Amino acid sequence: MSSTPAIDSNAHQKPGLRIPRHLGIIMDGNGRWARARGKPRTEGHVAGAKALRRLVELCIRYGVEHLTAFSFSSENWTRPRDEVNFILGLIRRFVASDLEKLVRNNVHVRIIGERDGLDPAMQRLIADVEAKTARNTGLELIIAFNYGGKAEITQMTRRIARAVQAGELEPGDITEETVERALYTSGIPDPDVIIRTSGEQRFSNFLLWQSAYSELIFIDEYWPDFDEEIFLRALEEYTRRERRFGGIEARIT
Ligand code: FPP
Repeated sequence: MSSTPAIDSNAHQKPGLRIPRHLGIIMDGNGRWARARGKPRTEGHVAGAKALRRLVELCIRYGVEHLTAFSFSSENWTRPRDEVNFILGLIRRFVASDLEKLVRNNVHVRIIGERDGLDPAMQRLIADVEAKTARNTGLELIIAFNYGGKAEITQMTRRIARAVQAGELEPGDITEETVERALYTSGIPDPDVIIRTSGEQRFSNFLLWQSAYSELIFIDEYWPDFDEEIFLRALEEYTRRERRFGGIEARIT
């Protein structure tokens, strides 16, 4: 790990560019990126991890407050075992070996997803990275790992049902805030924009509740090619969008 200086936050503000407070990213196309180059899929994932590092730096430089990256879905376990193990190794290395750099850049890491049933070493690593970055006040990097939107809604329902059963809550008192507090993302504002790479236009079970009013931007490039030029193109598109939240006039966000 080189000891390069911390990244200058807000160093690259562009006049007129609207910076989302919370950006969600569905990193898609690692396998196709590799195939197009005659390489094994694993090389696509290695290049994908590098692209995520680039995006984290961009979010710091442009002043995004929260970044949620869909790194491994509850459904990804159905991939061939070798590929699953390779991706898990990459995520582990990302979390462990980048920790010092994340701390130096004041990044607060939070992992969302189902933890029960995960390998105990992975559970310890998650707890460790969260604890070591908990007091950081810069970018909040939210890694969706073993995450599925339907599973999240199911566990939220169980938590609320238990509170009702215990007599702590009346069914009539359940509000949207009660639901939000029981989701993995409790305390995090909803994403203003969600970007998906590789030309696919679907959510694939990502932040189902939280994306109710998110702007959706689909870009054709594969995830490993994601760079500053693509980032700016997506934010320029976001800047042009008018967010009405069901009303009739644009609201300043
Ligand atoms: C999508 O490409 C990517 C994934 C399923 C997850 C793996 C993501 C990474 C390795 C990025 C780095 C993340 C961290 C936290 C280090 P795909 O395999 O679905 O591509 P395809 O649709 O072209 O086959």
